[in-house]
Amino acid sequence: MTSYTVRVEPIGADVTCRDDQTVLDACLRDGVWLPHACTHGTCGTCKAQVLDGDIDLGDASPYALLDSERDDGCALICVAKPKGDLVIEGEVDVEDGVEIHPVRDYSGTVDALDDIAPNVRRLIIALDAPMRFNPGQYLQLNLPSGDSRPYSIASTPADPTHVELHIKRTEGGAATEGWIFRELETGDSVSVSGPYGKFSFRPLRDKPVLLLGSGTGLAPLKSIVAHLLETTEDTGWENDVVLYHGVATRADLYDRDWFEGVQDQVDWFSYRPVVSREECDGRQGRVPALLTEDFPRAGGNTAYICGNPAMVEDTLKALMKARLFPRDILREDFFDAADRASGAHVVRSPLIKR
Ligand SMILES: Cc1cc2nc3c(=O)[nH]c(=O)nc-3n(C[C@H](O)[C@H](O)[C@H](O)COP(=O)(O)OP(=O)(O)OC[C@H]3O[C@@H](n4cnc5c(N)ncnc54)[C@H](O)[C@@H]3O)c2cc1C
Ligand code: FES
Repeated sequence: MTSYTVRVEPIGADVTCRDDQTVLDACLRDGVWLPHACTHGTCGTCKAQVLDGDIDLGDASPYALLDSERDDGCALICVAKPKGDLVIEGEVDVEDGVEIHPVRDYSGTVDALDDIAPNVRRLIIALDAPMRFNPGQYLQLNLPSGDSRPYSIASTPADPTHVELHIKRTEGGAATEGWIFRELETGDSVSVSGPYGKFSFRPLRDKPVLLLGSGTGLAPLKSIVAHLLETTEDTGWENDVVLYHGVATRADLYDRDWFEGVQDQVDWFSYRPVVSREECDGRQGRVPALLTEDFPRAGGNTAYICGNPAMVEDTLKALMKARLFPRDILREDFFDAADRASGAHVVRSPLIKR
């Protein structure tokens, strides 16, 4: 194993990176934050310019890193590894109020594993050491095969030794059908790394909040709501927070009691279940359509969208039609291997930053 130096411009930080390690991993572990989302070469968020040196581009999706971008010296640093000393240039700016937590490895034990909706399990892991993270971020769960999968953290940083995940069964999925829904049991040892991602609550944006999730895309939104609830006495949070949870049937609406309890407890929070295949509370439809009915003008909010890439894309379009600027929209796409293979949802508009 050989290690190289990666200089990150424009800040001039020098990071040591092994030849079997991705450039992003080395940076995040060293506390040098660079934008990233999927960490699997799918979304293009981590694109950086290689100013000097040789890089192995790794398993970058041809949809997320085009041939012309490869020719221009760009790399997806979440999958690229150094072949020598490197100089790269990335977007290192971090929004005020957002803390940087270096990525670390953790071992843990399955504390609870429960079915909470058809094909959804809540996995609670007791960690051997506290993991610091921002509400909305995700971790990588290591599979017995040595591979890993990203899962959003539904719990809050207030209890950093326990993390709650909401995991949907994916047909033919190695992590879900092959392990989490088949073999994994309470008391089993697991390992994770984290925290990852730029989808996190922005504490200094003093604006009303729209939380828009589908399926297990509820997980990071629950973390945000719970965090606001826990910190409201210190922060004096008073802005409206409206949460839409989109699912197919009423049976898929998990944690409904908890959200309705929060709604009863504080006047700034409102919970709107959105069911597409049957009526729920007198309404039926999908998140983008019901959102448009309720918010024909959405300007002045900060929106957080999370779920499958098609839902995220449609909701984003609805918000932009309702005059919400891209800078006020944060998105987390739950890409899987099928999305990666098809590249169907890679966004190329310069207006929309991942
Ligand atoms: C940032 C992020 C956060 C996420 N958070 C969550 C979360 O909180 N909860 C959650 O439920 N999910 C989440 N996901 C999705 C999750 O990481 C996994 O992708 C999902 O659980 C499926 O994993 P799997 O191993 O079971 O399926 P995989 O084995 O990865 O397969 C997924 C699907 O792709 C198909 N497939 C496999 N290989 C190919 C191929 N080469 N070509 C075409 N199709 C193929 C499989 O048959 C299957 O249908 C998140 C994803 C991201 C990017
Ligand atoms: S974070 Fe690198 S491609 Fe998504």
